[in-house]
Amino acid sequence: MEWCVSMPKIELHAHLNGSIRDNTLLDLARALGDKGVIDFSQVEHVILKNDRSLSEVFKLFDLIHIVTTDHSSITRITKEVVEDFASENVVYLELRTTPKKNDSLGMSKRSYVDAVVEGLRAVSSVDVAFIPSSEEPTNLSSPLLSDASDKCNGNIRKKIFVRLLLSIDRRETTEAAMETVIFYAEVFWAKLSLFVTDLERYTHLLQVMLALEMRRFGVVGIDLSGNPAVGEWITYLPALIFARQQGLYVTLHCGEVSNSKEIHNMLDFLPQRIGHACFFEEEHWRRLKSSNIPVEICLTSNIRTLSVPTIDAHHFVDLYNARHPLVLCTDDSGVFSTSLSNEYNIAASTFGLGQNEMFELSKNSIEFIFGDNVVKEILRKTFDSAAKSLEL
Ligand code: IMP
Ligand code: ZN
Repeated sequence: MEWCVSMPKIELHAHLNGSIRDNTLLDLARALGDKGVIDFSQVEHVILKNDRSLSEVFKLFDLIHIVTTDHSSITRITKEVVEDFASENVVYLELRTTPKKNDSLGMSKRSYVDAVVEGLRAVSSVDVAFIPSSEEPTNLSSPLLSDASDKCNGNIRKKIFVRLLLSIDRRETTEAAMETVIFYAEVFWAKLSLFVTDLERYTHLLQVMLALEMRRFGVVGIDLSGNPAVGEWITYLPALIFARQQGLYVTLHCGEVSNSKEIHNMLDFLPQRIGHACFFEEEHWRRLKSSNIPVEICLTSNIRTLSVPTIDAHHFVDLYNARHPLVLCTDDSGVFSTSLSNEYNIAASTFGLGQNEMFELSKNSIEFIFGDNVVKEILRKTFDSAAKSLEL
């Protein structure tokens, strides 16, 4: 485990509110209990429960959202989540979150994302690079884990690149969309009117609009997530096509439940990555492999939610042996009590990966990030220099 922590890592599938620290969640819940907003004694056991089915996980998310949906909590958990990933040597993090609107708190989807960005700015224990590459130092000769600072005082000041993905939740309502449209339509009407064919689709298009507007803060893509038993894939397709046309990357939660037609259609769309792929059938594997779409693998999440029967039977093995592009991820490190180092450790102990293989797996993930070529080049150098210090 220690070695897994020491190795540089890339995290590409982490939901902000799923990555919240237990203590922070308890803290925030207790504070709401004190204010009489919730009954703390009723929720404490829900937070502390370890084994959760997929539907219980989504119940917990509902609770988390009650507890975290104000600007200062969002800022706080963003800061802590980045610190936690950086502390286990994650050098590049794509953090995804669903922008939320809450009138009673004066929160719009835009101000929600601003609160996330505020959280990135608030991190002081590590250097966080979240502005796109034109504003990042392009001195490729200085790796992320700087030797220079090490020589100075023995303390390595860690650096982490963070990029954001805005998630579309499969539950979003027409009403919420309409209110957002009134605001955004003034600015974006020309583009919007080209794509909006009915009311149902507004909300997803607007999520994309927000992502475009926020690109300067490191928003690089769109994710489709939420309870896989809810919603129809076709609802989101116009927004995802639009996102792609605007140069945003797309990743989809795909095959979390058995839904052959949806999996088929999602693969047809050729997203830049997919998450999970648990309920794939022969035909889906064939198409996935021939299209080379990278898969975000979340071992603990899949086991906890019973999306795969046992860890030995996990499709990681088949994809890994087939040299299919894949990346190990946490999904919800808070909700599933895991860390990226732990995911590597599980892969090592279950599938017999040695240090070199784990390092290669981690390094190969660079090729699947949504960050640009400058970032990729810096990351390659970081891994090369880490390989030397780890004596690989
Ligand atoms: P947030 O987007 O920062 O609020 O993170 C929590 C949200 O991520 C949940 O409400 C879901 O919409 C989504 N999410 C987290 N884990 C999963 C998963 O395993 N499957 C599908 N969606 C998920
Ligand atoms: Zn997920």
